[in-house]
Amino acid sequence: MNWDQLLSHAYTPYSGNPECCLVRGKSGLLYPGVQVENGSYPLSMTAEQIAFCSCLAAGEEPEVLMYRGQPVSQPLFWQEEFDLEYAVYEKFPGGDLFNPLVQLNSPAKERLRKLNDYAVTPNSSFPVSAIAEVESGVIEGVNIEFSTWNLGLCAERVAIGRAITAGFREFGGLSIYVPKSDFASPCGGCRQVICEWMSGQVVGLYHGNGTFSSYYARDFLPYAMKTSSLKKESKPSSG
Ligand code: THU
Repeated sequence: MNWDQLLSHAYTPYSGNPECCLVRGKSGLLYPGVQVENGSYPLSMTAEQIAFCSCLAAGEEPEVLMYRGQPVSQPLFWQEEFDLEYAVYEKFPGGDLFNPLVQLNSPAKERLRKLNDYAVTPNSSFPVSAIAEVESGVIEGVNIEFSTWNLGLCAERVAIGRAITAGFREFGGLSIYVPKSDFASPCGGCRQVICEWMSGQVVGLYHGNGTFSSYYARDFLPYAMKTSSLKKESKPSSG
């Protein structure tokens, strides 16, 4: 991996301004993040959001925020939130890169249950876990909250953000588990993001009351905004 390769995974058809960063965890592992835009701009994820959420969702403590050059964004929030510095590495830093791709060796429900323990929910105490399917395996996510509520990411978006950052753009489906809700249901924001990436795929819901139901992603968002007319680059083919 190098900076150019990582940057090429950014999805910025609306602004044309790709960004990327790395967060080094205490273990030394590097958690990458790229800018992932959405046709509805408040639902876009910044490189920093994805990298920090990815690190925390793995149960790791962030230690350094790394950029290739001077950051275009303002990293002050992240520096204060985690009491860390940002560093500029013109050359891609050495060290192992976090690989979010895993194989599901146990039933999805069991895995989602275990994953739930990794959610970071100091504000809501409402953990959610998600598993996104890609061609060669699955990518997991949990919800992560920060001291600023609107910078956190839902479990679904952590899984999708990790997947896009790792270079995947085709999804086979998504499942979520919400133990504290009798009926698990993706929030409005996630519905918009899920539809951007996998409107034709199935979303499985593991409800807190032990039942399961599944729906086509597109049925979660009737009368959806058509983002295709906004796009400058080609649509993700699975969307
Ligand atoms: N949450 C998710 O992770 N996914 C959803 O679809 C619904 C909401 C999280 C976000 C926040 O951490 C908490 O649940 C309460 O909104």
